[in-house]
Amino acid sequence: MRIYEAKDYDDMSRKAANIIFAQVTMKPDCTLGLATGSTPIGMYQNLVERYNAGDIDFSEVTTANLDEYRGIEPTNEQSYYYFMNEHLFSKVNIDKNNTNIPDGTNMDVEAESARYEQVLRTLGGVDMQLLGIGRNGHIGFNEPGEEFVKETHCVDLAESTIEANKRFFDSIDDVPKQAYTMGIQTIMKAKKILLIVSGEDKADAVAKSFFGPVTPKVPGSILQMHQDVIVIADRAALSKCPR
Ligand code: GLP
Repeated sequence: MRIYEAKDYDDMSRKAANIIFAQVTMKPDCTLGLATGSTPIGMYQNLVERYNAGDIDFSEVTTANLDEYRGIEPTNEQSYYYFMNEHLFSKVNIDKNNTNIPDGTNMDVEAESARYEQVLRTLGGVDMQLLGIGRNGHIGFNEPGEEFVKETHCVDLAESTIEANKRFFDSIDDVPKQAYTMGIQTIMKAKKILLIVSGEDKADAVAKSFFGPVTPKVPGSILQMHQDVIVIADRAALSKCPR
């Protein structure tokens, strides 16, 4: 695991965009695993700017998103489907047929989990998986628990996650209580992982995930077992790490 310190959010975003830029330049037909949340917005903006400058081509790229709320329409502005269109897909030359996100409208948990896992198998592996991290150490929507759940599944969101995500909704009652997420093994199968994190409120999660014991109580800690992880964290997010 290589941890790079960024000065601040903008610096983190630029450094992360550099890595995605390099990945797409080196392998134009790569599969990118993508993430949502506040953290990657600056990175996506940076990639869109480079696309507008004619420096990056997404025409052969395939994407697979980590997660999606269950029971939410793609037209809902808080859906991750909507987010991806808003921040990246509608702004670059990606072929929409090559973008994949769990289907939040499919209420059949077993069918949707199996379908998405099959989609990922058919893609033949993710070249680079982008991750953010939750304040409780969750990756994707793999919440702290007693075990690492391997494959795509439906989760009950932790109270703290519902609380953290309520800022995007009109009220806490509107925040979905469940989500589909890639499992831990699904994430760990990616050839490379790029985790980005910013802000002091993530400093505990960062210290525990990258310097503590590997445990499903801190899902991000499993990344210590992956052979090719790059973490780009700003100073505030690294503030509780051992020096
Ligand atoms: C969300 C998403 C994660 C994301 C994390 C952090 O709930 N499911 O994929 O990495 O929580 O989000 P943010 O970047 O907004 O802090």
